[in-house]
Amino acid sequence: MVSFVDVALSPFAIDKFCHTVTSSWIVGAVFVVAVSSYYLLKKRETELAKQSLKIAACVGFVASLLAGITGHHSATLVGKVQPMKLAAMEALCKGGESQSLTAIALVNPFKQYDYRSGEELACHVSIPYALSMMATHSMHGFVPGVNDLLDGYVKADGTREPSVAEKIVMGKAAVNALMTYRKAKTEGNQTLAQKMLPVIRANMKYFGYGYVENGDQIVPNIPLCFWSFRIMVGMGSFFVLFFAVLYFFCYRKEVSNARWLLILGICSLPMAYIASEAGWVLAEMGRQPWTIQDMLPTWVAVSDVGASSIATTFFLFLGLFTLLLVVEISILIKQIKKGPEYGK
Ligand code: HEM
Repeated sequence: MVSFVDVALSPFAIDKFCHTVTSSWIVGAVFVVAVSSYYLLKKRETELAKQSLKIAACVGFVASLLAGITGHHSATLVGKVQPMKLAAMEALCKGGESQSLTAIALVNPFKQYDYRSGEELACHVSIPYALSMMATHSMHGFVPGVNDLLDGYVKADGTREPSVAEKIVMGKAAVNALMTYRKAKTEGNQTLAQKMLPVIRANMKYFGYGYVENGDQIVPNIPLCFWSFRIMVGMGSFFVLFFAVLYFFCYRKEVSNARWLLILGICSLPMAYIASEAGWVLAEMGRQPWTIQDMLPTWVAVSDVGASSIATTFFLFLGLFTLLLVVEISILIKQIKKGPEYGK
């Protein structure tokens, strides 16, 4: 890393920050809604609960819209820098122009999707042009599918994206040239070292492919990406509607009489957490196998710390965080049951 500021202020970091923060506002708003709904159903702290619901409905509604906007922007950036992630989250095998966005389709969640088969997705319902619009901001934009990315394709600007086989050749050339450069430097052979520099520069873009053996290794788990995206966006859309209805009832009707809405408010609490986790699953599983996109695959990034040390630290953290979770939830439940303490 050359500049921390460049990393922190890169469009990707800013976008991820904004999406994570706005989606966390949703979680906060839903939490307030759930507690307030509980009070109203129990017919206690009614004034406080109604005021809280009003604030949560406003914050939640704005946050859901902002999460949708920042999420849309995230998807555009993913299309630019992690096209395989975008193809995986759409289970898009063969890409093309004017691509539609899959609303729902039957993708087996427990088995890697056979992207080479070219089979149509079962029960496929899609929104015309929406994927091209999301990825390229043009209804007729070209979106590559998994097979295009594996076999190479011609981009909108007329340049050709190499196939994985070609990238592997270039990556291996870069890795070998770098090794030769380092050796030549330590042996004081400046001429050889200088000779290697243009080879490294010419092939550096695909350096990570030097460690890849075949195309299958760079395809992430498609069903996991497909479903985590749909769970997150599905719940995000639900929250826009839910907060709008809640807002209407808070300001135009008597919300304490809408029992069904209060029950829905409590039931929404796990959904907000699930949406958040689905977002992380998509972000982290979709970028596999790259630790650094196109540069460093995970199997090269592993440190030489022993498996037993990793297992010990993992279980220590698991135990500690489970304990903290139990303590935190029991404190929250106790406080919620007790209710607010007004000044004496
Ligand atoms: C409604 C429309 C939404 C869209 C279009 C959307 C889109 C996206 C996309 C494309 C990513 C992957 C970013 C990446 O891999 O770089 C992502 C990540 C994420 N999303 Fe969403 N999202 C939406 C709603 C939500 C909601 C409702 C929540 C939670 C309440 C949420 C929480 C997250 C989180 C925590 C991440 C991981 C953070 C990151 O690495 O960017 N999203 N979202």
